[in-house]
Amino acid sequence: MSTSVLSPYYTTPKGRMYLGKCEDVIEGYLLKRNHKKVNLVFTSPPFPLNRAKKYGNMNGEEYLAWLSGLSKVFKEALTPDGSIVIELGNAWETGSPTQSTLPLEALLEFKRKGNLHFCQEFIYYNPAKLPSPVEWVNKKRIRVKDSFTRIWWLSNTAYPKANNRNVLQEYSKQMKKLLSRGKYNSGQRPSEYNIGDKSFSVNNGGSIPSNVIIASNTVANDHYIRYCKDNLIDIHPARMPKEIAEFFIKFLTEEKDLVLDPFAGSNTTGFVSEKLNRNWISIETTEKYIQGSIGRFSEVQMNRGV
Ligand SMILES: C[S@@+](CC[C@H](N)C(=O)[O-])C[C@H]1O[C@@H](n2cnc3c(N)ncnc32)[C@H](O)[C@@H]1O
Repeated sequence: MSTSVLSPYYTTPKGRMYLGKCEDVIEGYLLKRNHKKVNLVFTSPPFPLNRAKKYGNMNGEEYLAWLSGLSKVFKEALTPDGSIVIELGNAWETGSPTQSTLPLEALLEFKRKGNLHFCQEFIYYNPAKLPSPVEWVNKKRIRVKDSFTRIWWLSNTAYPKANNRNVLQEYSKQMKKLLSRGKYNSGQRPSEYNIGDKSFSVNNGGSIPSNVIIASNTVANDHYIRYCKDNLIDIHPARMPKEIAEFFIKFLTEEKDLVLDPFAGSNTTGFVSEKLNRNWISIETTEKYIQGSIGRFSEVQMNRGV
């Protein structure tokens, strides 16, 4: 491995971005040098695709073996109470209006090979997603829009560090009204559930979120995009909305914990970690995406290694 893999491409007060394959950087650096363990691996790996996306995705058995093979590596870098959160989109069979089971198989195999616990499944629903697959949705009109990705929360133990009090959502108008009255409409619901319990009328500072996260990636002119445009750098085609990273980082880590994104792309994870006072390590194999990600950190002091 070249030394460039071991020295960060840039650093910030809280983080380090590495250029290289995550396999090499984690095995050659994070594991071999008694490095501090990671509290959260939060990542969105390349999806299996039938056509080549801009960053050359794999498909089929090759993809399955590759992704699941990383399970042990990630697990080894993790604290005993740490979590691995992986976002994976759907894939479709070539030339057929049928969904591929490959993403699910890859996730199952990843869990199995790492002997991991499956804490919970989340759905990231993007209402603004463009219709796809175009052939079946727009042209033949025999399928509907594919508009969610799957997020699997895995861990070494069934009780990893987690606190849903850190991700409470603002109460609905109706709930606020009920709380201001100081009394819930008690009695039996049609579901036969009896809602007499006083705890329903206690203000807990917000409502507990569900495992369906709704977010759109529609920001057209944020600092990152302006930086890429001004510097003629390709904008990353599969950026994750900041809200998703924010949710899991707040839910599963505390301040000063360490967050790792092995497939960092435009470094949404590192940027959100920095803002939330978490330490971070990000790894990305395509240099132009790293160069673009520098635009996210205009307000913090950076050191560029290269
Ligand atoms: C789905 S994108 C991640 C996007 C990211 N979450 C963001 O918000 O910008 C996956 C990224 O993994 C990178 N990648 C692919 N194989 C890799 C590897 N072996 N090690 C590190 N990065 C890799 C790709 O270049 C791509 O940028």
